[in-house]
Amino acid sequence: MTGCFITFEGIDGSGKSTQLERCAEALTQAGYSVVVTRNPGGTELGQDIRKILLHHPGYVSPTCELMLYMADRAQHMDEVVFPALEAGRVVLCDRHFDSSMAYQGYGRDLSLEMIQELNDTATRGKLPDVTLLFDGPVEVLAARVSRRGEADRLEREALSFRQRVREGFLTLAKASPERIKVLDATNTPEALHTQVMTLLAPYLSSPPAPPNTPNLGVQQA
Ligand code: TMP
Repeated sequence: MTGCFITFEGIDGSGKSTQLERCAEALTQAGYSVVVTRNPGGTELGQDIRKILLHHPGYVSPTCELMLYMADRAQHMDEVVFPALEAGRVVLCDRHFDSSMAYQGYGRDLSLEMIQELNDTATRGKLPDVTLLFDGPVEVLAARVSRRGEADRLEREALSFRQRVREGFLTLAKASPERIKVLDATNTPEALHTQVMTLLAPYLSSPPAPPNTPNLGVQQA
């Protein structure tokens, strides 16, 4: 595979989706072929799963919740991520494996080993090449979510749940510093964008030259 698989993570209200959009614009302008996608809901089937996950009005058991995120992921890997990587594209994915570990593992207290195993099955062992984790105090980020309007099923969880999720993300980042890069979500969007582009630069090979571009720098005899 020649593409690059990049995930954006963080608790709700961390600004990761805004940063993902800005990053996609910048990379596209620089000549990369970019795929913007997300978990859950990056496929048609996944959209249906997302509706259940975020808006089911009744009780959802933690294990059922986990399985639904994994079902979404399995479909998404096969339908979107693997084909894009095989085509050499840059995949920017809003949430992935680390959200399952942080929300269902640390948040819902399900076994981290079980989540890892299920994720391995869903992804055939493919982890993101690099993950950007947008971290900030739960009260500050929760206030941003409540300003956005009606909260979904997970956004309605107590601050103590979000705190466990935040700490979970930070524990994951500590365990995998070579893959997970932590950014301060309370920085300005402009500062964050600059940091995002700087952090990603080492993971991106040069974009393919557009057709008919003279090969500058090569001296003709
Ligand atoms: P989003 O609103 O950022 O798209 O994320 C949807 C919600 O799903 C968010 O509250 C985090 C949650 N989530 C999990 O609990 N586990 C997962 O594996 C994923 C991908 C998301």
